[in-house]
Amino acid sequence: MEMKKGFTSPPYSCNALMAAAIIVSLLVLMSSNMKTCSAAPATATTTSSINTDCNCKTNFIRSGCASTTYPKLCYTSLSPYASYVGTNRTRLAIVALKVSLSATRNSSALVKKVSRRHDLMANETAAIKDCVETVGDAKDELKQSLQEMNNLSGSDFEYTISSIEAWVSAALTDDATCTDGLNGFNGKVEKRILKSVTLAAELTSNALAIIESITSIYSSNSKGTVTSSP
Ligand SMILES: *[C@@H]1O[C@H](CO)[C@@H](O)[C@H](O)[C@H]1NC(C)=O
Ligand SMILES: *[C@@H]1O[C@H](CO)[C@@H](O)[C@H](O)[C@H]1NC(C)=O
Ligand SMILES: *[C@@H]1O[C@H](CO)[C@@H](O)[C@H](O)[C@H]1NC(C)=O
Ligand SMILES: *[C@@H]1O[C@H](CO)[C@@H](O)[C@H](O)[C@H]1NC(C)=O
Repeated sequence: MEMKKGFTSPPYSCNALMAAAIIVSLLVLMSSNMKTCSAAPATATTTSSINTDCNCKTNFIRSGCASTTYPKLCYTSLSPYASYVGTNRTRLAIVALKVSLSATRNSSALVKKVSRRHDLMANETAAIKDCVETVGDAKDELKQSLQEMNNLSGSDFEYTISSIEAWVSAALTDDATCTDGLNGFNGKVEKRILKSVTLAAELTSNALAIIESITSIYSSNSKGTVTSSP
């Protein structure tokens, strides 16, 4: 009987179950609404942080190029290496040096080729032969500085970086010696050389500025005034 009684009550408990089910589903709805509400900003944050991360690599190059004299050239020449560079300043300096070395090699090959021409005036040939020498030196100096980039993790950071800066400055001076020597000549050949060596010098100047920015971050870190690099 008691079982029967129990069985007669189903309509009642069914109502209760339905009510409970409704309440539960309402709660579920509410909580899922709350979830979507609270999840919405989280999703947005994730997406935007993914987006920033995608832009981050080129943003890093853009900001690293900001301190250079030729920021546009810097950005266009270095952004193809964004994924290698990531947010590593040493790597940014390495690719800047490599691009500068590539341009200097091109200039060196050009002046060598032109210096062998027989249709130029004696003073032109002399000036171009000087370029063969100075641009060749610039090439060697940039190679040397690239090699020393590998020594940056060594014990004497400050010594190594100032040595690298000295090599890169020497390369800049050598480029300028070449272009100064071409002053007063207005031939096509000189214009071609000027264009090529000027590009190399601008890329070298950019590399130097980037290397100098490593130094300034390092020295402010060692003083403890800068807690994170941008
Ligand atoms: C930056 O790159 C250099 C050269 O590849 C590497 O030696 C160094 O460990 C890197 N630094 C960081 C913080 O990843
Ligand atoms: C040097 O010349 C090569 C071959 O023409 C070219 O692919 C490269 O971009 C040049 N390098 C620079 C930095 O202009
Ligand atoms: C750089 O390191 C290499 C070995 O890793 C060493 O042979 C070379 O002398 C170092 N260069 C300088 C300038 O310290
Ligand atoms: C080069 O030599 C020519 C004649 O030999 C002369 O007319 C010209 O002024 C010289 N150019 C420069 C820049 O010295």
